[in-house]
Amino acid sequence: MSEFVFNYDKALSFINQKEIHHFQEKIDRHFEAIYNKTGKGSDFLGWVELPENVDETLISRIEATAQKMCEQSDVFVVIGIGGSYLGARAIIEALSHHFSHLQREKNSPVILYAGNNISEDYLTDLLDVLKNRDYSVAVISKSGTTTEPAIAFRILRENLEAKYGTEAARKRIVAITDKQKGALKQLADEEGYETFIIPDDVGGRYSVLTPVGLLPISVAGFNIRQLLEGAKAMKVRITKSTKIDENPVAAYAAVRNALYNKGYTTEIMVNYEPRLFYFTEWWKQLYGESEGKENKGIFPAGVSFTTDLHSMGQYIQEGLRNIFETVLSVEKPRSELAIPEDDKNLDKLNYIAGKAIHEVNHQAELGTALAHVDGGVPNLRISVPGINENILGQLIYFYEMACAVSGYILDVNPFDQPGVEAYKRNMFALLGKPGFEKETEEIRKRL
Ligand code: PA5
Repeated sequence: MSEFVFNYDKALSFINQKEIHHFQEKIDRHFEAIYNKTGKGSDFLGWVELPENVDETLISRIEATAQKMCEQSDVFVVIGIGGSYLGARAIIEALSHHFSHLQREKNSPVILYAGNNISEDYLTDLLDVLKNRDYSVAVISKSGTTTEPAIAFRILRENLEAKYGTEAARKRIVAITDKQKGALKQLADEEGYETFIIPDDVGGRYSVLTPVGLLPISVAGFNIRQLLEGAKAMKVRITKSTKIDENPVAAYAAVRNALYNKGYTTEIMVNYEPRLFYFTEWWKQLYGESEGKENKGIFPAGVSFTTDLHSMGQYIQEGLRNIFETVLSVEKPRSELAIPEDDKNLDKLNYIAGKAIHEVNHQAELGTALAHVDGGVPNLRISVPGINENILGQLIYFYEMACAVSGYILDVNPFDQPGVEAYKRNMFALLGKPGFEKETEEIRKRL
Protein backbone atom coordinates (compact mmCIF):
# COMPACT_ATOMS: atom_id res chain seq x y z
CA MET A 1 0.00 0.00 0.00
CA SER A 2 1.28 3.44 -0.85
CA GLU A 3 1.35 6.43 1.48
CA PHE A 4 -0.50 9.72 1.44
CA VAL A 5 -0.05 11.25 -2.04
CA PHE A 6 -1.13 14.60 -3.45
CA ASN A 7 -1.46 14.63 -7.23
CA TYR A 8 -2.38 17.56 -9.44
CA ASP A 9 -1.70 16.15 -12.92
CA LYS A 10 -5.32 16.66 -13.88
CA ALA A 11 -5.12 20.38 -13.16
CA LEU A 12 -2.25 20.95 -15.55
CA SER A 13 -4.42 21.61 -18.58
CA PHE A 14 -5.81 24.62 -16.63
CA ILE A 15 -2.69 26.01 -14.94
CA ASN A 16 0.96 25.50 -15.76
CA GLN A 17 3.98 24.70 -13.60
CA LYS A 18 5.20 28.28 -13.86
CA GLU A 19 1.95 29.58 -12.37
CA ILE A 20 2.24 27.03 -9.58
CA HIS A 21 5.94 27.55 -8.83
CA HIS A 22 5.46 31.29 -8.86
CA PHE A 23 4.28 30.78 -5.22
CA GLN A 24 7.51 29.12 -4.04
CA GLU A 25 9.10 32.24 -2.60
CA LYS A 26 5.91 33.19 -0.74
CA ILE A 27 5.51 29.65 0.55
CA ASP A 28 9.07 29.62 1.92
CA ARG A 29 8.33 32.87 3.76
CA HIS A 30 4.99 31.67 5.06
CA PHE A 31 6.37 28.41 6.45
CA GLU A 32 9.03 30.46 8.20
CA ALA A 33 6.38 32.81 9.62
CA ILE A 34 4.39 29.82 10.87
CA TYR A 35 7.35 28.06 12.49
CA ASN A 36 8.76 31.29 13.96
CA LYS A 37 5.33 32.65 14.89
CA THR A 38 5.78 35.97 13.13
CA GLY A 39 2.81 36.11 10.76
CA LYS A 40 -0.78 37.30 11.11
CA GLY A 41 -2.63 35.73 14.05
CA SER A 42 0.63 34.29 15.43
CA ASP A 43 -0.91 34.03 18.93
CA PHE A 44 -2.97 31.13 17.58
CA LEU A 45 -0.25 28.84 16.30
CA GLY A 46 -0.28 26.41 19.22
CA TRP A 47 -1.75 23.69 16.95
CA VAL A 48 1.57 23.47 15.05
CA GLU A 49 3.23 21.70 17.98
CA LEU A 50 0.23 19.75 19.27
CA PRO A 51 1.35 16.36 17.87
CA GLU A 52 4.30 16.36 20.28
CA ASN A 53 2.93 18.68 22.97
CA VAL A 54 0.04 16.44 23.93
CA ASP A 55 2.01 14.53 26.56
CA GLU A 56 1.58 11.14 28.22
CA THR A 57 -0.01 12.64 31.35
CA LEU A 58 -2.74 14.32 29.34
CA ILE A 59 -3.31 11.31 27.07
CA SER A 60 -3.63 8.98 30.08
CA ARG A 61 -6.05 11.33 31.83
CA ILE A 62 -8.19 11.57 28.68
CA GLU A 63 -8.19 7.77 28.32
CA ALA A 64 -9.05 7.25 31.99
CA THR A 65 -11.94 9.75 31.82
CA ALA A 66 -13.14 8.16 28.59
CA GLN A 67 -13.10 4.74 30.25
CA LYS A 68 -15.21 6.06 33.15
CA MET A 69 -17.69 7.63 30.71
CA CYS A 70 -17.93 4.34 28.79
CA GLU A 71 -18.61 2.32 31.91
CA GLN A 72 -21.46 4.51 33.08
CA SER A 73 -23.09 5.42 29.75
CA ASP A 74 -25.13 3.91 26.94
CA VAL A 75 -25.00 7.29 25.25
CA PHE A 76 -22.38 10.03 25.36
CA VAL A 77 -23.57 13.47 24.24
CA VAL A 78 -20.98 15.83 22.78
CA ILE A 79 -22.20 19.41 23.23
CA GLY A 80 -20.42 21.97 21.06
CA ILE A 81 -20.57 23.86 17.78
CA GLY A 82 -18.13 24.68 14.95
CA GLY A 83 -14.57 23.85 15.91
CA SER A 84 -15.77 22.60 19.27
CA TYR A 85 -17.47 19.59 17.69
CA LEU A 86 -16.77 19.08 13.99
CA GLY A 87 -13.29 17.57 14.44
CA ALA A 88 -14.51 14.94 16.90
CA ARG A 89 -17.49 14.08 14.71
CA ALA A 90 -15.31 13.91 11.57
CA ILE A 91 -12.98 11.35 13.12
CA ILE A 92 -15.63 9.35 14.98
CA GLU A 93 -17.83 8.98 11.89
CA ALA A 94 -14.88 8.17 9.65
CA LEU A 95 -13.89 5.30 11.94
CA SER A 96 -17.27 4.01 13.03
CA HIS A 97 -19.43 1.27 11.62
CA HIS A 98 -21.96 2.97 9.33
CA PHE A 99 -24.80 1.62 11.43
CA SER A 100 -23.10 1.75 14.81
CA HIS A 101 -26.30 2.99 16.49
CA LEU A 102 -27.87 -0.40 15.80
CA GLN A 103 -24.87 -2.55 16.62
CA ARG A 104 -25.70 -4.73 19.62
CA GLU A 105 -22.17 -5.88 20.44
CA LYS A 106 -20.74 -2.35 20.64
CA ASN A 107 -18.66 -1.74 23.78
CA SER A 108 -18.52 2.03 23.58
CA PRO A 109 -21.51 4.30 24.11
CA VAL A 110 -23.41 5.66 21.16
CA ILE A 111 -22.13 9.19 20.49
CA LEU A 112 -24.79 11.84 19.93
CA TYR A 113 -24.32 15.55 19.37
CA ALA A 114 -26.08 18.62 20.76
CA GLY A 115 -25.52 22.35 20.88
CA ASN A 116 -24.78 22.60 17.16
CA ASN A 117 -28.18 24.10 16.30
CA ILE A 118 -31.02 25.90 18.08
CA SER A 119 -33.76 23.47 17.12
CA GLU A 120 -36.40 22.85 19.75
CA ASP A 121 -37.48 19.64 18.02
CA TYR A 122 -33.89 18.33 17.95
CA LEU A 123 -33.43 18.83 21.69
CA THR A 124 -36.88 17.43 22.47
CA ASP A 125 -36.13 14.30 20.44
CA LEU A 126 -32.75 14.01 22.15
CA LEU A 127 -34.38 14.12 25.59
CA ASP A 128 -36.77 11.50 24.33
CA VAL A 129 -34.06 8.99 23.43
CA LEU A 130 -32.11 9.74 26.62
CA LYS A 131 -35.14 9.04 28.84
CA ASN A 132 -34.53 5.32 29.24
CA ARG A 133 -30.79 5.30 28.72
CA ASP A 134 -27.83 6.02 30.96
CA TYR A 135 -25.88 8.92 29.58
CA SER A 136 -23.06 11.40 30.21
CA VAL A 137 -22.05 14.60 28.45
CA ALA A 138 -19.00 16.56 27.39
CA VAL A 139 -19.71 20.26 27.16
CA ILE A 140 -17.13 21.86 24.90
CA SER A 141 -16.77 25.60 24.43
CA LYS A 142 -13.56 27.58 24.39
CA SER A 143 -15.25 30.90 25.04
CA GLY A 144 -17.75 29.25 27.36
CA THR A 145 -20.38 31.72 26.22
CA THR A 146 -21.59 30.40 22.87
CA THR A 147 -25.39 30.43 22.80
CA GLU A 148 -26.08 27.11 21.04
CA PRO A 149 -24.05 24.83 23.36
CA ALA A 150 -25.04 26.90 26.40
CA ILE A 151 -28.75 26.26 25.73
CA ALA A 152 -28.19 22.53 25.13
CA PHE A 153 -26.05 22.21 28.25
CA ARG A 154 -28.57 24.01 30.44
CA ILE A 155 -31.27 21.57 29.25
CA LEU A 156 -29.15 18.44 29.63
CA ARG A 157 -27.67 19.47 32.99
CA GLU A 158 -31.13 19.97 34.38
CA ASN A 159 -32.17 16.62 32.93
CA LEU A 160 -29.12 14.83 34.37
CA GLU A 161 -29.72 16.35 37.80
CA ALA A 162 -33.37 15.35 37.76
CA LYS A 163 -32.48 11.84 36.61
CA TYR A 164 -29.50 11.03 38.85
CA GLY A 165 -29.51 13.70 41.59
CA THR A 166 -27.13 16.67 41.72
CA GLU A 167 -24.12 14.83 43.12
CA ALA A 168 -24.24 11.86 40.74
CA ALA A 169 -25.00 14.15 37.79
CA ARG A 170 -21.69 15.95 38.39
CA LYS A 171 -19.83 12.71 37.68
CA ARG A 172 -21.51 12.51 34.29
CA ILE A 173 -20.35 15.90 33.07
CA VAL A 174 -16.97 16.75 31.56
CA ALA A 175 -16.24 20.38 30.69
CA ILE A 176 -13.68 21.27 28.02
CA THR A 177 -13.00 24.98 27.98
CA ASP A 178 -10.57 27.86 28.37
CA LYS A 179 -8.31 27.81 31.41
CA GLN A 180 -9.81 30.88 33.05
CA LYS A 181 -12.20 32.85 30.86
CA GLY A 182 -15.90 32.30 30.43
CA ALA A 183 -19.00 31.19 32.28
CA LEU A 184 -18.38 27.50 31.60
CA LYS A 185 -15.06 27.54 33.46
CA GLN A 186 -16.67 29.25 36.42
CA LEU A 187 -19.55 26.77 36.44
CA ALA A 188 -17.20 23.79 36.10
CA ASP A 189 -15.11 25.03 39.03
CA GLU A 190 -18.15 25.68 41.21
CA GLU A 191 -19.72 22.30 40.43
CA GLY A 192 -16.46 20.37 40.50
CA TYR A 193 -16.84 18.87 37.02
CA GLU A 194 -13.92 17.01 35.54
CA THR A 195 -12.34 19.68 33.34
CA PHE A 196 -9.94 19.72 30.42
CA ILE A 197 -8.32 22.90 29.19
CA ILE A 198 -8.18 24.17 25.60
CA PRO A 199 -4.81 25.90 25.18
CA ASP A 200 -5.00 29.68 24.75
CA ASP A 201 -3.04 29.55 21.52
CA VAL A 202 -5.27 27.01 19.73
CA GLY A 203 -8.43 28.28 18.01
CA GLY A 204 -11.60 26.19 17.75
CA ARG A 205 -11.22 24.86 14.23
CA TYR A 206 -7.57 23.84 14.83
CA SER A 207 -8.39 22.10 18.12
CA VAL A 208 -9.19 18.52 17.14
CA LEU A 209 -5.87 17.28 18.58
CA THR A 210 -6.63 18.85 21.99
CA PRO A 211 -9.12 17.33 24.48
CA VAL A 212 -11.85 18.96 22.31
CA GLY A 213 -11.44 16.14 19.82
CA LEU A 214 -9.42 13.61 21.77
CA LEU A 215 -11.88 12.99 24.62
CA PRO A 216 -14.97 12.23 22.47
CA ILE A 217 -12.84 10.19 20.05
CA SER A 218 -11.49 8.14 22.95
CA VAL A 219 -14.99 7.66 24.43
CA ALA A 220 -16.08 6.37 21.02
CA GLY A 221 -13.43 3.66 21.35
CA PHE A 222 -10.76 4.92 18.98
CA ASN A 223 -7.03 5.15 19.45
CA ILE A 224 -6.01 8.74 20.10
CA ARG A 225 -2.33 7.77 20.35
CA GLN A 226 -2.40 6.59 16.74
CA LEU A 227 -4.19 9.77 15.69
CA LEU A 228 -1.43 11.86 17.27
CA GLU A 229 1.24 9.58 15.77
CA GLY A 230 -0.23 10.18 12.32
CA ALA A 231 -0.19 13.94 12.82
CA LYS A 232 3.40 13.70 14.04
CA ALA A 233 4.41 11.69 10.97
CA MET A 234 2.90 14.33 8.67
CA LYS A 235 4.63 17.08 10.65
CA VAL A 236 8.00 15.35 10.25
CA ARG A 237 7.35 14.82 6.56
CA ILE A 238 6.50 18.43 5.81
CA THR A 239 9.20 20.02 7.93
CA LYS A 240 11.91 18.41 5.78
CA SER A 241 11.43 20.81 2.88
CA THR A 242 9.24 23.70 1.85
CA LYS A 243 9.61 22.94 -1.84
CA ILE A 244 6.47 22.57 -3.92
CA ASP A 245 7.93 19.46 -5.57
CA GLU A 246 8.76 17.82 -2.24
CA ASN A 247 6.17 19.00 0.26
CA PRO A 248 2.48 18.10 -0.33
CA VAL A 249 1.29 21.04 1.80
CA ALA A 250 3.30 23.47 -0.33
CA ALA A 251 2.00 21.83 -3.51
CA TYR A 252 -1.67 21.88 -2.43
CA ALA A 253 -1.46 25.50 -1.23
CA ALA A 254 0.29 26.60 -4.45
CA VAL A 255 -2.04 24.76 -6.81
CA ARG A 256 -5.27 25.93 -5.18
CA ASN A 257 -4.04 29.54 -5.17
CA ALA A 258 -2.88 29.30 -8.79
CA LEU A 259 -6.38 28.09 -9.67
CA TYR A 260 -8.00 30.81 -7.57
CA ASN A 261 -5.99 33.46 -9.42
CA LYS A 262 -7.42 32.09 -12.68
CA GLY A 263 -11.02 32.45 -11.52
CA TYR A 264 -11.60 29.04 -9.92
CA THR A 265 -13.14 30.46 -6.79
CA THR A 266 -14.97 27.36 -5.51
CA GLU A 267 -13.21 24.22 -4.30
CA ILE A 268 -15.28 21.11 -3.91
CA MET A 269 -13.96 18.41 -1.63
CA VAL A 270 -15.12 15.08 -3.00
CA ASN A 271 -15.33 11.80 -1.16
CA TYR A 272 -16.42 8.38 -2.40
CA GLU A 273 -16.92 6.98 1.10
CA PRO A 274 -20.05 8.05 3.00
CA ARG A 275 -18.19 7.85 6.30
CA LEU A 276 -16.06 10.80 5.20
CA PHE A 277 -19.09 13.11 5.07
CA TYR A 278 -18.24 14.79 8.38
CA PHE A 279 -14.56 14.93 7.52
CA THR A 280 -15.66 17.12 4.60
CA GLU A 281 -17.77 19.20 7.01
CA TRP A 282 -14.71 19.68 9.22
CA TRP A 283 -12.64 20.71 6.19
CA LYS A 284 -15.34 23.15 5.04
CA GLN A 285 -15.31 24.88 8.40
CA LEU A 286 -11.51 24.96 8.58
CA TYR A 287 -11.12 26.53 5.16
CA GLY A 288 -14.28 28.66 5.12
CA GLU A 289 -13.64 30.33 8.45
CA SER A 290 -9.92 30.68 7.85
CA GLU A 291 -9.89 32.08 4.33
CA GLY A 292 -13.23 33.74 3.72
CA LYS A 293 -12.61 37.33 4.77
CA GLU A 294 -11.74 40.77 3.42
CA ASN A 295 -13.89 39.91 0.36
CA LYS A 296 -11.46 37.14 -0.54
CA GLY A 297 -11.19 33.38 -0.29
CA ILE A 298 -11.94 30.15 -2.09
CA PHE A 299 -15.49 28.98 -1.29
CA PRO A 300 -15.23 25.48 0.20
CA ALA A 301 -18.00 23.12 -0.80
CA GLY A 302 -18.38 19.39 -0.35
CA VAL A 303 -20.00 16.48 -2.15
CA SER A 304 -20.28 12.75 -1.53
CA PHE A 305 -19.99 10.67 -4.69
CA THR A 306 -21.42 8.71 -6.25
CA THR A 307 -24.52 9.87 -4.29
CA ASP A 308 -24.21 13.49 -5.39
CA LEU A 309 -23.36 12.60 -8.99
CA HIS A 310 -27.11 12.15 -9.23
CA SER A 311 -27.73 15.69 -7.96
CA MET A 312 -24.81 18.13 -7.89
CA GLY A 313 -23.08 16.16 -10.64
CA GLN A 314 -25.01 18.05 -13.31
CA TYR A 315 -23.84 21.44 -12.02
CA ILE A 316 -20.26 20.32 -11.62
CA GLN A 317 -20.21 18.93 -15.16
CA GLU A 318 -21.90 21.84 -16.93
CA GLY A 319 -22.62 24.76 -14.60
CA LEU A 320 -20.67 27.98 -14.04
CA ARG A 321 -16.98 27.26 -14.72
CA ASN A 322 -15.46 28.58 -11.48
CA ILE A 323 -15.08 25.19 -9.78
CA PHE A 324 -12.16 22.92 -9.07
CA GLU A 325 -12.39 19.71 -7.11
CA THR A 326 -10.14 17.88 -4.70
CA VAL A 327 -10.87 14.20 -4.35
CA LEU A 328 -10.03 12.48 -1.09
CA SER A 329 -9.46 9.03 -2.50
CA VAL A 330 -9.29 5.90 -0.35
CA GLU A 331 -7.35 3.05 -1.95
CA LYS A 332 -8.60 0.13 0.10
CA PRO A 333 -11.89 -0.43 1.92
CA ARG A 334 -11.89 -2.15 5.33
CA SER A 335 -14.17 -4.94 4.13
CA GLU A 336 -14.66 -7.17 1.08
CA LEU A 337 -17.91 -7.66 -0.78
CA ALA A 338 -18.21 -8.79 -4.37
CA ILE A 339 -21.09 -8.45 -6.82
CA PRO A 340 -22.79 -11.84 -7.26
CA GLU A 341 -23.46 -13.58 -10.57
CA ASP A 342 -27.14 -13.87 -11.48
CA ASP A 343 -28.41 -16.48 -13.96
CA LYS A 344 -31.18 -14.32 -15.35
CA ASN A 345 -29.06 -11.17 -15.54
CA LEU A 346 -32.14 -9.00 -15.99
CA ASP A 347 -30.30 -6.03 -14.48
CA LYS A 348 -27.44 -6.63 -16.96
CA LEU A 349 -24.87 -6.55 -14.21
CA ASN A 350 -23.15 -9.85 -14.97
CA TYR A 351 -20.36 -8.01 -16.78
CA ILE A 352 -19.15 -6.87 -13.38
CA ALA A 353 -20.11 -10.01 -11.43
CA GLY A 354 -17.26 -11.19 -9.24
CA LYS A 355 -15.79 -7.70 -8.96
CA ALA A 356 -15.34 -6.11 -5.55
CA ILE A 357 -17.76 -3.21 -5.06
CA HIS A 358 -14.78 -1.00 -4.29
CA GLU A 359 -13.40 -1.68 -7.76
CA VAL A 360 -16.63 -0.33 -9.28
CA ASN A 361 -16.42 2.71 -6.97
CA HIS A 362 -12.81 3.22 -8.06
CA GLN A 363 -13.68 3.13 -11.76
CA ALA A 364 -16.51 5.57 -11.08
CA GLU A 365 -13.95 7.86 -9.46
CA LEU A 366 -11.53 7.65 -12.41
CA GLY A 367 -14.31 8.11 -14.95
CA THR A 368 -15.78 11.07 -13.10
CA ALA A 369 -12.43 12.82 -12.79
CA LEU A 370 -11.91 12.60 -16.56
CA ALA A 371 -15.48 13.69 -17.31
CA HIS A 372 -15.08 16.71 -15.04
CA VAL A 373 -11.73 17.65 -16.54
CA ASP A 374 -13.34 17.42 -20.00
CA GLY A 375 -16.13 19.64 -18.68
CA GLY A 376 -13.67 22.30 -17.49
CA VAL A 377 -13.19 21.31 -13.83
CA PRO A 378 -9.56 21.01 -12.68
CA ASN A 379 -9.13 17.86 -10.59
CA LEU A 380 -6.77 17.45 -7.63
CA ARG A 381 -6.38 14.18 -5.77
CA ILE A 382 -5.28 13.28 -2.30
CA SER A 383 -5.01 9.53 -1.99
CA VAL A 384 -4.60 7.57 1.19
CA PRO A 385 -4.14 3.81 1.58
CA GLY A 386 -7.18 3.38 3.86
CA ILE A 387 -9.00 5.03 6.72
CA ASN A 388 -7.62 4.54 10.21
CA GLU A 389 -6.54 6.74 13.12
CA ASN A 390 -3.00 7.19 11.85
CA ILE A 391 -4.08 8.27 8.37
CA LEU A 392 -6.74 10.60 9.76
CA GLY A 393 -4.05 12.17 11.97
CA GLN A 394 -1.91 12.74 8.87
CA LEU A 395 -4.85 14.29 7.03
CA ILE A 396 -5.71 16.61 9.92
CA TYR A 397 -2.21 17.98 10.14
CA PHE A 398 -1.88 18.23 6.36
CA TYR A 399 -5.11 20.21 5.98
CA GLU A 400 -4.42 22.48 8.94
CA MET A 401 -0.95 23.41 7.73
CA ALA A 402 -2.12 23.85 4.13
CA CYS A 403 -4.91 26.10 5.38
CA ALA A 404 -2.47 28.30 7.27
CA VAL A 405 -0.05 28.56 4.32
CA SER A 406 -2.89 29.15 1.87
CA GLY A 407 -4.43 31.83 4.09
CA TYR A 408 -1.10 33.62 4.27
CA ILE A 409 -0.81 33.47 0.47
CA LEU A 410 -4.21 35.18 0.34
CA ASP A 411 -2.82 37.70 2.85
CA VAL A 412 -5.56 37.14 5.44
CA ASN A 413 -5.36 36.10 9.07
CA PRO A 414 -6.30 32.40 8.91
CA PHE A 415 -6.84 32.19 12.67
CA ASP A 416 -9.59 34.71 13.38
CA GLN A 417 -13.29 34.76 12.44
CA PRO A 418 -14.56 38.34 12.83
CA GLY A 419 -17.48 37.69 10.46
CA VAL A 420 -19.06 35.15 12.81
CA GLU A 421 -19.99 37.97 15.20
CA ALA A 422 -22.46 39.69 12.83
CA TYR A 423 -25.29 37.17 13.22
CA LYS A 424 -24.69 36.98 16.96
CA ARG A 425 -25.06 40.76 17.37
CA ASN A 426 -28.37 40.75 15.50
CA MET A 427 -29.66 37.70 17.34
CA PHE A 428 -28.76 39.19 20.74
CA ALA A 429 -30.39 42.48 19.76
CA LEU A 430 -33.55 40.71 18.60
CA LEU A 431 -33.67 38.65 21.78
CA GLY A 432 -33.24 41.79 23.89
CA LYS A 433 -30.00 40.72 25.57
CA PRO A 434 -28.94 43.20 28.29
CA GLY A 435 -26.26 45.52 26.90
CA PHE A 436 -27.76 45.47 23.38
CA GLU A 437 -30.56 48.01 24.01
CA LYS A 438 -29.50 50.43 21.25
CA GLU A 439 -29.06 47.63 18.71
CA THR A 440 -32.45 46.20 19.71
CA GLU A 441 -34.17 49.48 18.97
CA GLU A 442 -32.42 49.86 15.61
CA ILE A 443 -32.89 46.31 14.39
CA ARG A 444 -36.59 46.18 15.29
CA LYS A 445 -37.15 49.15 12.95
CA ARG A 446 -35.70 47.08 10.10
CA LEU A 447 -38.05 44.13 10.53
O1 PA5 B 1 -13.29 27.77 14.88
C1 PA5 B 1 -13.82 28.50 15.68
O2 PA5 B 1 -13.17 29.28 16.39
C2 PA5 B 1 -15.32 28.48 15.87
O3 PA5 B 1 -15.93 27.65 14.96
C3 PA5 B 1 -15.66 28.03 17.28
O4 PA5 B 1 -15.12 26.75 17.49
C4 PA5 B 1 -17.17 28.00 17.50
O5 PA5 B 1 -17.72 29.24 17.23
C5 PA5 B 1 -17.48 27.60 18.94
O6 PA5 B 1 -16.86 28.46 19.85
P1 PA5 B 1 -16.69 28.09 21.37
O7 PA5 B 1 -15.80 26.92 21.48
O8 PA5 B 1 -16.11 29.31 21.99
O9 PA5 B 1 -18.07 27.78 21.90
